[in-house]
Amino acid sequence: MSTIDRGDKIPNNVHLASDKRLQRALEQWQPRFIEWWKEMGPEGFQAHDVYLRTAVSADSDGWAVFDYVKMPDYRWGIFLADPVADRRIGFGDELGKPVWQEVPGEHRNALRRLIVTQGDTEPASVEQQRRLGQTCPSLYDLRNLFQVNVEEGRHLWAMVYLLHSHFGRDGREEAEALLTRRSGNADNPRILGAFNAPCDDWLSFFCFTYFTDRDGKYQLLALAESAFDPLSRTTRFMLTEEAHHMFVGETGLLRVCERTAQIMIAHPGDDPRRHGVVDLPTLQRYVNFWYAISLDLFGGEISSNAAQYFASGLKGRAHEDRYDDHVALGASYSLDVLRDGTLSRDDVPLRNAMNEILRDEYVEDSQRGIDKCNKLLAEAGVDFQLRLPSRRFNRQVGSFAGARVSPAGELVDEATWQSQRDTWLPSERDREYVKSLQQKAVLEPGKIQSWLAPPKRGIKGRPVDFEYVRVD
Ligand SMILES: [Fe+2]
Ligand SMILES: [Fe+2]
Repeated sequence: MSTIDRGDKIPNNVHLASDKRLQRALEQWQPRFIEWWKEMGPEGFQAHDVYLRTAVSADSDGWAVFDYVKMPDYRWGIFLADPVADRRIGFGDELGKPVWQEVPGEHRNALRRLIVTQGDTEPASVEQQRRLGQTCPSLYDLRNLFQVNVEEGRHLWAMVYLLHSHFGRDGREEAEALLTRRSGNADNPRILGAFNAPCDDWLSFFCFTYFTDRDGKYQLLALAESAFDPLSRTTRFMLTEEAHHMFVGETGLLRVCERTAQIMIAHPGDDPRRHGVVDLPTLQRYVNFWYAISLDLFGGEISSNAAQYFASGLKGRAHEDRYDDHVALGASYSLDVLRDGTLSRDDVPLRNAMNEILRDEYVEDSQRGIDKCNKLLAEAGVDFQLRLPSRRFNRQVGSFAGARVSPAGELVDEATWQSQRDTWLPSERDREYVKSLQQKAVLEPGKIQSWLAPPKRGIKGRPVDFEYVRVD
């Protein structure tokens, strides 16, 4: 394959064709990626034309084209946001010094770890969602699923580009390992907990794209502040695509609420399940589950790693320029911890609280879509409001890992937990019920499964009943 073909085949703005060594490394990795995609990517529909968005440049207007493409032919490109002239390190001990174009030796291991951890989430989510096409509510939803999937694939490319271009042999080995770990596999799992949880029904998919992709947004915002400029530029561009993933989640949850509210108003007093929709307590349990598992992704409340990342300029706070103090020495942060089985409020050095500070922003952002759902329910005349559970609820990471805490945030004993568990988290019966609503994929343009309201509008000005995936 010629140099020019390769440059064409991998759309990029990193002058790939002029870097032979990098090009060779990516050439060797690409067929392995395609093998992985065919084995672990979406089940079925690989030969179908899907109306997809493809990134073709990093220009703020017109960065993507929309057209029919078969998923294995998707042009996974490598794009960095435009460089900022004379960009300076925005926080930590190196504040004000020029950013790095190469990896400083002393930060090599930490940076590689950050990049691998981010990179691992991308193929993991594709693996988690790989069977959802078989039960899709509509062609519109099927297309959105695949859009998210191919873009997570591109995010993997983005991280692999950094590993190949800046980390030599170790980087190439890590890039291989990103294709060999498997979500949910007992022997070789993905790195982070939430990315090993099954996401095998569409209510989970909407919760995942609402809550778990939103964790991605905040991790990317923090990495976009990095002193390692290629990482900053890569993640800034990834955020452009990530917005659509969260849109899929938010509108998905709203459409669930809309449909359920219609049924509740039409059949007052009936169990909504008798009419084939998701009852709101079940929706609340799904929210509880995915919110808690996504909170875990931010790491421990008190973290010396986070302090070190901040000190050395590797990972900042989201929108660091909104803060006045970018050194964060001498200040403290007050947060909840569990000590000897009791709840207490601790003041910790600010740098050690960086995970919690990022989580605070995430919590606030997560509330917004819940508020929209509640507004929709109230306007429909339904007497039910969704709530984000306490951030202490059902945590597996950090100070509250394994603690028995109610959604309201109170410590409870084991007996209470056991008796309430199925009212707080999805039970087997809930999961079976939700899946029963999605047994048969709906593949006719404009048609939709009965538990979900249609979208307000289509994609890129296309009508809702557009043939988003050509199934004949
Ligand atoms: Fe992603
Ligand atoms: Fe995403």
